[in-house]
Amino acid sequence: MAPTVPFNVVPCGSCVTQLIDYEKKGVMTQPFRTHYCGDLRATDIDQDVILMGWCQTRRDHGGVIFVDLRDYTGITQVVFKKEISPTAHEEGDAIRNEYVIAVQGKVAHRIEGNVNPKLPTGEIEVLVDKLDILNVSQPAPFALDERINVDEKIRLKHRYVDLRRPAMQKNMMMRSHTLHLTRNYFYAHRFFEVETPILTKSTPEGARDYLVPSRVNPGQFYALPQSPQLFKQMLMCSGYDRYMQIARCFRDEDLRFNRQPEFTQIDLEMSFVEPEQIYELIEGMLSLLFREVAGVEITTPFPRMDYQTSMEDYGSDAPDLRFGLKLVNLTDIAQECGLKVFAEVAKKGGLVKAICVPGGSDFSRKELDDLTDFVGIYGAKGMAWVKRNENGWQSPIAKFFSDEHKQAVEERLGMKVGDLALFCADTPKVVADSLGNLRKEVARRKQWVKEDDYQFVWIYDFPLFEYDAESKRYVSIHHPFTMPNLEDLEEHLDGDPSKIRSQAYDVVLNGQEIGGGSIRIHRPDIQSKVFELLNISPEEARARFGFLLDALSYGAPPHGGIAMGFDRLMMFLVNTESIRDVIAFPKTQKASCLLTEAPSEVDSNQLDELHLRIKASAKKAE
Ligand code: AMO
Ligand code: AMP
Repeated sequence: MAPTVPFNVVPCGSCVTQLIDYEKKGVMTQPFRTHYCGDLRATDIDQDVILMGWCQTRRDHGGVIFVDLRDYTGITQVVFKKEISPTAHEEGDAIRNEYVIAVQGKVAHRIEGNVNPKLPTGEIEVLVDKLDILNVSQPAPFALDERINVDEKIRLKHRYVDLRRPAMQKNMMMRSHTLHLTRNYFYAHRFFEVETPILTKSTPEGARDYLVPSRVNPGQFYALPQSPQLFKQMLMCSGYDRYMQIARCFRDEDLRFNRQPEFTQIDLEMSFVEPEQIYELIEGMLSLLFREVAGVEITTPFPRMDYQTSMEDYGSDAPDLRFGLKLVNLTDIAQECGLKVFAEVAKKGGLVKAICVPGGSDFSRKELDDLTDFVGIYGAKGMAWVKRNENGWQSPIAKFFSDEHKQAVEERLGMKVGDLALFCADTPKVVADSLGNLRKEVARRKQWVKEDDYQFVWIYDFPLFEYDAESKRYVSIHHPFTMPNLEDLEEHLDGDPSKIRSQAYDVVLNGQEIGGGSIRIHRPDIQSKVFELLNISPEEARARFGFLLDALSYGAPPHGGIAMGFDRLMMFLVNTESIRDVIAFPKTQKASCLLTEAPSEVDSNQLDELHLRIKASAKKAE
């Protein structure tokens, strides 16, 4: 619908000249917008303005129609009064929610009692004398009112409407601002931004690849990058010294609250670098982003913790340090007490560990039963508990402990009257998983987890390999290009490869891994040794990574880097529990896009061109 009257109002700001130019050329078919809906204040009273936006709500008070006019900057109340403009008033009557309109009018003070101190524009309103309905809208699929909880499936199906909600617009704007700050930060630190290919070869980051069939090379496939890992290493070989990229990565893996099949990394690589320099650079970036985007001052340098300490004390390589509840090893004491399960577990090389919950003796039987079920999820076969009361232990296992053993347990746990101890006896892995998660669950129930507390930590000295029982071989914990600790490599080369530590590190925030990286192997002889330990034959290594091995053989500098999970970082900066809240068009847990209905079938011609046929069993499964 073209505007009926060309509004004769001078636009604000630096665009004036350009707009007048356009007007002269007859390019402008629409009136100028003079302000955004979040701009106007009491200082603008009596100004003539033109606003454009969406009708958020419309209230009809007899002779007066109030519309909350919204754009991404905020809301202005606009008023259609019969006595000011009978025509505008009449047309105002036709406005429905989510109609797109342009209004011209005068800024006025709201009458006494109508001032809304919660709204930045709450002191003023615009008295409309001209209205243009620029577009109509079907009734919205859900109310845009923030207070109403809408099913996420419906929000994702109509994401273009969902993204109009102020909360989502704020998230998206914070994301854009964060990207901008990040790029500037790295430019200031002499980084180059290089875009690496999306149609490429498999990168070994441990997930399944998304494959793209090649039409011109029948039977051959590209893989979408799980990360730019190999390209950034080759850029170091090319002498680019410091590379960064806001990189899109693709991983076909099981999705969780903080995982998407397609996600973004702040990816970087540096030549001639030590881990400490990378830590410092990332700490600088995170301080800047938390200060500028979230208004939070974080403390640097972050504490550093080796992998083994993290596993022993927290049962996890991504410890949440906002509360204590450390895991305490009691195997030596427990195996001497009379409880059979404890003695047997210890004899088989397992562990008996416990956490001490200060003031936890107020947990009810029901709560203790719930916690026992909770550790069951992680494979624990039981959970023993001890309440330390005024007159000693209250516990189903008290009778198995002598007074000395009780005292030894209390001392090691630092247990006082009123405290509760929770025990788990099992294999080291089950104990770590069970108690590691139990400490988080207890802290949650006790409300010890403060939301505005940001506890960062660097975890280093990861093992290079772990044993994969399924494939019966060692696999890389980080990736096969990670530099081993060279002393360990020497010592354990012919012995137990699981004892070799790597030069890899993760940065963890409140129990979530937000980034990970390593110093890389730059010497072909070390790379060959690592492939050998991974049971990757020279032929296989050549077929999969020949280009990288060649690059390393043409004068590769020592180098290392890191990638930050950008979406995960945004979850913290905007303070949300769901990764989908910080991605404009995210996918569901089943990796589908409810908006576009991707993935979807393609027609048979397209399949023919790609030399593909769908198996009958796949059709049946669907
Ligand atoms: P890594 O695999 O540890 O390392 O990934 C780096 C960071 O990316 C984030 N991340 C994800 N975020 C959302 N959805 C996912 N599916 C997902 N997977 C990972 C995490 C993680 O810490 N090339 C190496 C980096 C390097 O060595 O420099 C790499 O990709 O926050
Ligand atoms: P039981 O001898 O099976 O009756 O167990 C005695 C106590 O030890 C009970 O409180 C059980 O919950 C607890 N328990 C049993 N198995 C384990 C285990 N693997 N780890 C910790 N506690 C256990």
